Amino acid sequence: MEKIKNLLGRAKLFRSLKVRIFVIMLLVGVVPSFIIKHGILDNYETRAIDVRKSDVQNQLKILANHLITYNYLQDTSSEVINAELEQLSNLYDGRVLIIDRSFKIIKDTYGISEGKIIISEEVMKCFQGTGMSNHDKVNGYIEMTTPITSAVLTQDLTGGKPDKEEVVGVMLISVSTDSIVATQEILNRKAMIIELIMLLVLVGIAGVLSTVLIRPFERVTQAINEVKAGFTDEQISVPDYLETEHIVDAFNQMLGRMKVLDDSRQEFVSNVSHELKTPITSMKVLADSLLQQPDAPVELYKEFMVDIADEIDRENKIITDLLSLVKMDKKVAELNISSAHINELLELILKRLRPIARKQDVEVVFESVRPVTAEVDEVKFTLAISNLVENAIKYNKQHGWVKVLLDADHQFFTVEISDSGIGIPEDVMEHIYERFYRVDKSHSREIGGTGLGLAITRNAILMHRGSIKAESIPGEGTTFVVKMPLIYIA
Ligand SMILES: Nc1ncnc2c1ncn2[C@@H]1O[C@H](COP(=O)(O)OP(=O)(O)OP(=O)(O)O)[C@@H](O)[C@H]1O
Ligand SMILES: [Mg+2]
Repeated sequence: MEKIKNLLGRAKLFRSLKVRIFVIMLLVGVVPSFIIKHGILDNYETRAIDVRKSDVQNQLKILANHLITYNYLQDTSSEVINAELEQLSNLYDGRVLIIDRSFKIIKDTYGISEGKIIISEEVMKCFQGTGMSNHDKVNGYIEMTTPITSAVLTQDLTGGKPDKEEVVGVMLISVSTDSIVATQEILNRKAMIIELIMLLVLVGIAGVLSTVLIRPFERVTQAINEVKAGFTDEQISVPDYLETEHIVDAFNQMLGRMKVLDDSRQEFVSNVSHELKTPITSMKVLADSLLQQPDAPVELYKEFMVDIADEIDRENKIITDLLSLVKMDKKVAELNISSAHINELLELILKRLRPIARKQDVEVVFESVRPVTAEVDEVKFTLAISNLVENAIKYNKQHGWVKVLLDADHQFFTVEISDSGIGIPEDVMEHIYERFYRVDKSHSREIGGTGLGLAITRNAILMHRGSIKAESIPGEGTTFVVKMPLIYIA
């Protein structure tokens, strides 16, 4: 368990960019030098051993010739040869044995084994003509055999045939490789010191570089933290790298969006409180003025009470509208989809609104190109269309008309609501779906709206994956076109 925790801790550390840069730099620096060092030193050893072998081999060949010349195999008293042998064994810190045909050691530079018989594989092989060399790494010496050959005259003296070489003895030599190992050790030590210095320098460079490289990212984090902590809401700027610039750009865009959202939220809250306060203020004024007149007539009471009831209705409507907007705002708001006869729904909506239209002296007509059945949330769809028709009636003229036209193709159905009303100026068209937006505040106040109707309508339509568009000529009339899919796609 402890091990796993440790591993996780380390893994987390390695997720740091700084640590990664540091490690990569270190590896990039250290690994090649490590490989080079070992490559060169290993190579040195084999090369040095090879050179030593061929040196000794050459010396032995020369010596073998001398041995024959001085007839040393028969008589070992030659001072010249003995001196040469001495020199050779001193030179290579080694031991030379000379063995005659009967495998007897006739000379040992150590003087220990003279007169003894030696029968070993190497010696036998050498008598057959093949010398060998063997490097004993563990004990630190090279063992070599060289045949001593002598020319034997062939029987045929007339033909001038070449003389036959015959192995008459064997030289066995073992030379120490201590000096090579010592040199290698010195080299090794030097390489290690250089490596250590390089490692220290690399650690330093990697440390500094990783810190420097990472700094812009730390600056981004710091800048974002400052914004988060609320010290500033200015746009941040860390232009060091293209990458940090991208991060900062994205962050600034998000900051901009958040500001817009925050502004609209604040505006919304102040609008809501204002709208909610207006009816209450009116009620307070009405109630106060009644209280100030202790003997006010009953008629006045009745009149004011009607006004107060109207204000309560207004307040109630605002709250209901707000609640339905909030509900639709939450993305979780679920649609209660069912297959509905749109013609019947529209007839019902118009039936409900006709009394209001009659009061305003506005004629409402319904036209349907074909019967339409579609998958909608009846309540929300009714709310959306009711708001549009209600507006068409409210913002109309005396003896005006409202026309509702239903049509469909194989994919969508459209409800077109046109009126002969006051119209909407071109430049405010984009604002009419905003909450609490009203084109002419004084006029609308008289008509009595809160500016939430179209916001609710649009939300309800968007939830059905539909669209809403408006066209208007001020003074002549307005047409809203609602386009909705026949089959609801979740
Ligand atoms: N058919 C129309 N003709 C002219 N102006 C319209 C029409 N429909 C909407 N408007 C304008 O758009 C504004 C916003 O409409 P919306 O339905 O959102 O609010 P409202 O009718 O004022 O209040 P509410 O519908 O919440 O009671 C209206 O105040 C009005 O100025
Ligand atoms: Mg409205």
